[in-house]
Amino acid sequence: MSERLKDCTAIITGGARGQGAAEARRFVEEGAFVLIADVLDSEGQALAKDLGDSAVFQHLDVTDEGNWAAVVDRLTDAGRTIDVLVNNAGILLFDRLTRSSREDFERVMDVNCTGVFLGMQAVASEMKKQQSGSIVNISSVAGLQGVGFQFSYSVSKWAVRGMTKSAAHELARDNIRVNSVHPGLIETAMLDQFPENLQPKVESFVPMGRSAEAAEVAELVLWLASNESSYCTGAEFVIDGGLSVG
Ligand SMILES: NC(=O)c1ccc[n+]([C@@H]2O[C@H](COP(=O)([O-])OP(=O)(O)OC[C@H]3O[C@@H](n4cnc5c(N)ncnc54)[C@H](O)[C@@H]3O)[C@@H](O)[C@H]2O)c1
Repeated sequence: MSERLKDCTAIITGGARGQGAAEARRFVEEGAFVLIADVLDSEGQALAKDLGDSAVFQHLDVTDEGNWAAVVDRLTDAGRTIDVLVNNAGILLFDRLTRSSREDFERVMDVNCTGVFLGMQAVASEMKKQQSGSIVNISSVAGLQGVGFQFSYSVSKWAVRGMTKSAAHELARDNIRVNSVHPGLIETAMLDQFPENLQPKVESFVPMGRSAEAAEVAELVLWLASNESSYCTGAEFVIDGGLSVG
């Protein structure tokens, strides 16, 4: 077993299932200690138990500043550094500009966008003290192009891409790297939300002709979390089987 994240402590939001859970498993395999943070308590606790001494679960609603402070305090009170933050939690909504409500728009922005802002803010001072850190923000191919039928989601994922670049600019001299990841179709519970009439067709839109497993995204996130990507910051990493090539 290699140890690409030896002595690293990582926070993974939305870590109870899907891509976040695949990242938690992969990070632990590579020597990290992982705090799995999610609103799904029973799934998160079960995963942490399965991963043994190298993982803990903590309830975190990414929109709640008090929850974020508790996550950071738990790690620092235990004498741990905060080396990696993966802002992975997200919600999907099928809506249109002309048919969306203010409440729906704000809910998606709150989780997908404000949650990422609060997360980066919560860890930045610890990472500055350490003069090191890697933040990986999970955007989407919807953050690279317009998506008429996922209006609020697409706006929120463009915001994640923009926040990543501005944060990277601000934090670079403190040796804190911030990058965004743009997945295409990934086999998680989120894909179940696609309307039934679209589900059989979605893979045909992908040039590679298939969706990806969450474990495939975890490999990219692992690389960005580790020092192997030491000169990458403010950059977009697309993992979509060619979906966004046009
Ligand atoms: N699945 C895809 O095809 C796909 C494609 C592009 C981008 N993404 C993005 O990847 C990320 C992971 O999604 P996934 O595919 O694993 O789907 P998922 O629905 O399985 O996982 C999302 C996780 O986020 C958690 N979450 C939701 N709201 C939260 C909140 N307020 N606070 C804390 N946790 C919260 C959920 O409980 C869940 O565990 C998301 O940001 C999503 O937008 C997914």
